[in-house]
Amino acid sequence: MADRPRVRPATMGDVPALAAIERACFGREGADDLLAAELTRSWARVRVAELPGEGLAAFVDGWLVADEFEVHFVATRPERQRRGLGALLLDHLLAEVAAEGATAALLEVRRDNAAAQALYRTRSFEVVAERRGYYDDGEDALVMRCGLGRFLGGPGAGGLR
Ligand SMILES: CC(C)(COP(=O)(O)OP(=O)(O)OC[C@H]1O[C@@H](n2cnc3c(N)ncnc32)[C@H](O)[C@@H]1OP(=O)(O)O)[C@@H](O)C(=O)NCCC(=O)NCCS
Repeated sequence: MADRPRVRPATMGDVPALAAIERACFGREGADDLLAAELTRSWARVRVAELPGEGLAAFVDGWLVADEFEVHFVATRPERQRRGLGALLLDHLLAEVAAEGATAALLEVRRDNAAAQALYRTRSFEVVAERRGYYDDGEDALVMRCGLGRFLGGPGAGGLR
């Protein structure tokens, strides 16, 4: 990527841009209030990838609960996908929460979301369980888990490719 992305914590000023990414990636309208509430939670970790001169291109959101980190969303603007931003954000955030004491990361992903599953596998997540009919539309979830020991050395440490 010619322009290096910057990873930083999301701020309230980012909410409209985050909501636009949610709309583009998930078709969800009106996420502004939910995102603003998320930014007030001390246990939430929302990190953005910003491209110089272009603004926010991707974000990741999750909760640090005791010694586990729950990844809730990773989303990259459609026109900026497959440029390493999702992997970059996960590497930064997983290194950050590992340094805070998290020993594992967990997430649920739709069974038919091959792109997300592929991304998570590149970060060493493995399927550990299935939840039948987990989503509102009846689709199954796969539960994926990743030990965070390998991320303790910083953002570059977890990338195994
Ligand atoms: C899943 C998602 C976040 C990936 O983000 P991204 O920034 O495009 O991911 P990256 O460029 O960092 O991809 C890293 C690796 O993941 C895998 N990967 C990512 N997208 C993939 C796809 N569409 N198909 C296959 N593998 C994929 C590849 O191994 C890729 O490495 P490569 O490009 O060198 O082959 C993005 O597709 C997205 O926003 N989707 C819609 C929202 C969503 O479903 N989020 C996940 C559930 S919350």
